[in-house]
Amino acid sequence: MQKSERPDTILISGELAEAIFDMEQGLKVVEQAFREHGEGRTRMPSKIYLDLPEMNGDFRAMPAYLPGMDASGVKWVNSHPGNRARSLPTVMAIIILSDPATALPLAIMDGTYITRVRTGAAGGVAAKYLARKDSRRLALVGCGAQAISQLEALLRLFRFDTISLFDPKDQAVEELREQFPAEASRLERAQDPQQCVAGADIVVTTTPSRQPVLRREWIAKGAHINAVGADAPGKQELDEKILLEGTVVVDDLDQAIHSGEVNVPIRDGKFRREGIAAQLGDVVCGKKPGRSRPDEITIFDSTGLAIQDIAAARYVYDECKKSGKGNHMRF
Ligand SMILES: NC(=O)c1ccc[n+]([C@@H]2O[C@H](COP(=O)([O-])OP(=O)(O)OC[C@H]3O[C@@H](n4cnc5c(N)ncnc54)[C@H](O)[C@@H]3O)[C@@H](O)[C@H]2O)c1
Repeated sequence: MQKSERPDTILISGELAEAIFDMEQGLKVVEQAFREHGEGRTRMPSKIYLDLPEMNGDFRAMPAYLPGMDASGVKWVNSHPGNRARSLPTVMAIIILSDPATALPLAIMDGTYITRVRTGAAGGVAAKYLARKDSRRLALVGCGAQAISQLEALLRLFRFDTISLFDPKDQAVEELREQFPAEASRLERAQDPQQCVAGADIVVTTTPSRQPVLRREWIAKGAHINAVGADAPGKQELDEKILLEGTVVVDDLDQAIHSGEVNVPIRDGKFRREGIAAQLGDVVCGKKPGRSRPDEITIFDSTGLAIQDIAAARYVYDECKKSGKGNHMRF
């Protein structure tokens, strides 16, 4: 290939990604990524962690290849729970999308917005396959950035009568409220996590907690839980009795055991790998059942997969290429 024929690398800002990729596309692209994962066609080594406990944070490198989407790349992302006090997001990311055939860098893009959408979309896909179709009461425990995108996804799939919110920080609750003016009459602030989840059909946890925030006896029969916050070793949001009595579906077995909601109970010998019912992709492509009874408690243990990011990045790149948007450059 002549140097002049080489495709440029496109630089894509978060603002541009936001203008061309929303939750509707996010749900489609992420469901497709999980389907490919369930069919065993994706390649995705477990994410690598660079722990910085002295900074109260960590970095992760997340590579993936999805042949069905002709997409390969890597996301470089962090989780620094103290960042909100510095007016920075807890989670920020950059994605490099490369041509699988030649390794040419097709795009370098902001991954912070994409991470939020793909995390919300995974929660939406999980609830689509695992929650009761007649779910009417939603509870959000933790009201930060991920809670907002979970709510955005779930509102596209369910009709809620009430949406209960709990976060110890007033500002987080207010910021979430501001994002959803059309839902104002249905948003109710709870005084504590128990009140928040009482009678809820769908519960979403998005806290950086390292100890259980929810107890088994607070969870209603037939509830579905998206456990999103635990995505690194030592993090945990649910009392292990919830896992023992419920049906646990993880996004990826190896990653969940290493760093998901199940990581602490497995480490402490309170829950076993064999207790995991399925990976979400297996349910999406029909290899494993999802919910089997209306009174069953189902749990989706989300750690966040590189295939979600790279699938979304491919979509964003294709749209930029079609429309000529983004800053072109040659390395
Ligand atoms: N599974 C995934 O794919 C995925 C993706 C991105 C982030 N995460 C994780 O999700 C968590 C939240 O990320 P974020 O970007 O929303 O952070 P954030 O800082 O924007 O929001 C977290 C919120 O949780 C609240 N909180 C803390 N302890 C709480 C408690 N005990 N009860 C209720 N609320 C509590 C905080 O006040 C804050 O408002 C982090 O642990 C992050 O690493 C997971």
